[in-house]
Amino acid sequence: MARVALENLSVRFGAVAAVDDISIAFEQGEFVVLLGPSGCGKTTTLRCIAGLEQPTSGKILFDQDEVSHLPPRVRQVAMVFQFVSLYPHLRVRDNIAFPLRARGESKADITRKIAWMNKIFDLDEILDRRPGTLPPGARQKAALARAVVREPRVLLLDEPLSAIDEQFREEMRWELRHLQKELGMTTIHVTHDQREAMSLADRVVLMRNGKIVQAGPPAELFDDPVDEFAAHFIGSPSVNLIDAAFTDEGVVLGDAQVPIRLPDRHLAALRRSGLPRGKVGIRPHSLTPASQGDYGAIPVHRPTSYAIGRERFVDFELSGQVWKGVLPPGPEDQVPDTMHLDPAKIFYFTPDGVRLPVA
Ligand SMILES: Nc1ncnc2c1ncn2[C@@H]1O[C@H](COP(=O)(O)OP(=O)(O)O)[C@@H](O)[C@H]1O
Ligand SMILES: [Mg+2]
Repeated sequence: MARVALENLSVRFGAVAAVDDISIAFEQGEFVVLLGPSGCGKTTTLRCIAGLEQPTSGKILFDQDEVSHLPPRVRQVAMVFQFVSLYPHLRVRDNIAFPLRARGESKADITRKIAWMNKIFDLDEILDRRPGTLPPGARQKAALARAVVREPRVLLLDEPLSAIDEQFREEMRWELRHLQKELGMTTIHVTHDQREAMSLADRVVLMRNGKIVQAGPPAELFDDPVDEFAAHFIGSPSVNLIDAAFTDEGVVLGDAQVPIRLPDRHLAALRRSGLPRGKVGIRPHSLTPASQGDYGAIPVHRPTSYAIGRERFVDFELSGQVWKGVLPPGPEDQVPDTMHLDPAKIFYFTPDGVRLPVA
């Protein structure tokens, strides 16, 4: 297993900076998820690590060794893609054995390693079948087994679960998580799905336009986003983002001019910024039914409520936009007239979307 470090890595395709001066290290045995919208440079980063793409500038290190310009086969990385590339004419058993045979391992070793993969992936029912006869989840399991049986220095996964039905995807996430911990493999997993990222990663690396926006444990990205983009990309239902005036007492939200009084340290942060206006971010879970006579209660216009599992949410209109809040369990038509905002949990952004630090 290797530690992988990217130092000022850039990849340009003509005028497009697909990867734009990225520096980050993936620790030995760490499960890191590269997350971001389509086109932000995730796949290109992964292909550089695999050696399938040449960096325009910068370095890639596996432990102490620079591999930036080494061919893929000497890097000992394994990569699994969204669409599985198993050999259709070979049984799963022979697909897994293939990379081992190719490097001349003994029959006894190959048998032992297939048994090892079987133990981890529970492959009994599929070992003697051909890929074409398997459901997508089972095929992806076989592809993962073929990738990890070689004991690569790094495991690279490019949207490996996105072609799998929602229902099997959760099971595959669980499998992947266990497998990764059991093997202790340095794993870099790419996805555009924030829920997948949040449920799998030791650390999430959020990307945008070829750059890293923020890297940290899932809870840190959720609770402490560096900017408006990060706040909005992570969390579902998504954060409420509202224009606000910053005043001496607090904030005044939207055209509806809802005044919110703030804790002192928040006021200090707004004062330090010197800005008269900006934006606030409010997670739906910080917006809950108000008690009677609440100061700064938020009026609920034209609400619709819905449940996701046992959680109830309400969408309502204010200042020409839709706000999202959370309701206690109850009948669907029971929606309060006003909602309460937990001021301690507000995020503040400059008009350009940069987060204002609260000391
Ligand atoms: N081979 C290529 N030639 C030209 N442009 C490319 C090539 N590969 C990727 N790009 C561009 O680089 C950017 C990043 O692409 P990619 O790494 O595939 O993003 P992601 O995996 O995050 O969706 C996109 O603008 C894409 O169009
Ligand atoms: Mg991609």
